[in-house]
Amino acid sequence: MRTIAHLSDLHFGRVNDRVLASLLDDLETCNPDLIAVSGDLTQRASRKQFEDAKAFLISLAWPMVVVPGNHDVPLLNPVGRFAKPLGRYKHHFSGFPDPYYTDDKMMVVGISTARPIFWRTGSLPPSVKRTSQGLFYDAGPDTMKIVVAHHSFMPPQKRRIPLAFDMAGRMAHLLRNEKPDILLAGHFHKSFHCLAGPDSETGKILVIHAGTAVSNRLRKEQNAFNLVHVEKNRVTVDVRAFNNDIFNSIAINSFVRRGGVWNPE
Ligand SMILES: [Fe+2]
Ligand SMILES: [Fe+2]
Repeated sequence: MRTIAHLSDLHFGRVNDRVLASLLDDLETCNPDLIAVSGDLTQRASRKQFEDAKAFLISLAWPMVVVPGNHDVPLLNPVGRFAKPLGRYKHHFSGFPDPYYTDDKMMVVGISTARPIFWRTGSLPPSVKRTSQGLFYDAGPDTMKIVVAHHSFMPPQKRRIPLAFDMAGRMAHLLRNEKPDILLAGHFHKSFHCLAGPDSETGKILVIHAGTAVSNRLRKEQNAFNLVHVEKNRVTVDVRAFNNDIFNSIAINSFVRRGGVWNPE
């Protein structure tokens, strides 16, 4: 089994220091194999906020896959926003150039969905390929294939969206050939999981959203992160939320895959 600590929406600049200290304690206790951070490291993509986010992340002792979110693109600086939307992110996270991790049980690949336009829904680069042969071209047959991205398949609410703006549809389309098993996402500041994607039942991807780990930008939910336990054809999501000065488990859900189809256990 492998365990991923799935953190999201840190929003340095709006961090609750008590929550941050408790998160560190809980990570020490849980001792994951990998930390996946699904974007919004900062509140407004300022230099100071990136410095603080980086100081926090490099203090963690575990392997890491980090991707940017829409808040890591400057919002109020139109020159920086369009000329170098991820300039500061790349400058501060040059130590994380390849958001990629693999071992004999799982392969975890980060993709950036943060763009100067499509700010809320996200977008994808022209290619999501890790190499010309695809994101998971060298994954073994029993390797769990996991994408980390800030935005997910799920639009914020049901609505008609022109195809060009339909992140959910475009992402599903682009990932169809990649066939990830799991998507780890954030952005909504809510902890929930669902099966999503195009195609047949066997094309459905287990999409796991994390709440905001440490920021005070709460959306009627506590601060939370996910511990994702990965086994062959089985995933368990342990949502750990901040209550009474500590993080503890508030929900545990397992999904089992039979015949290529994910089902809640
Ligand atoms: Fe966020
Ligand atoms: Fe976001």
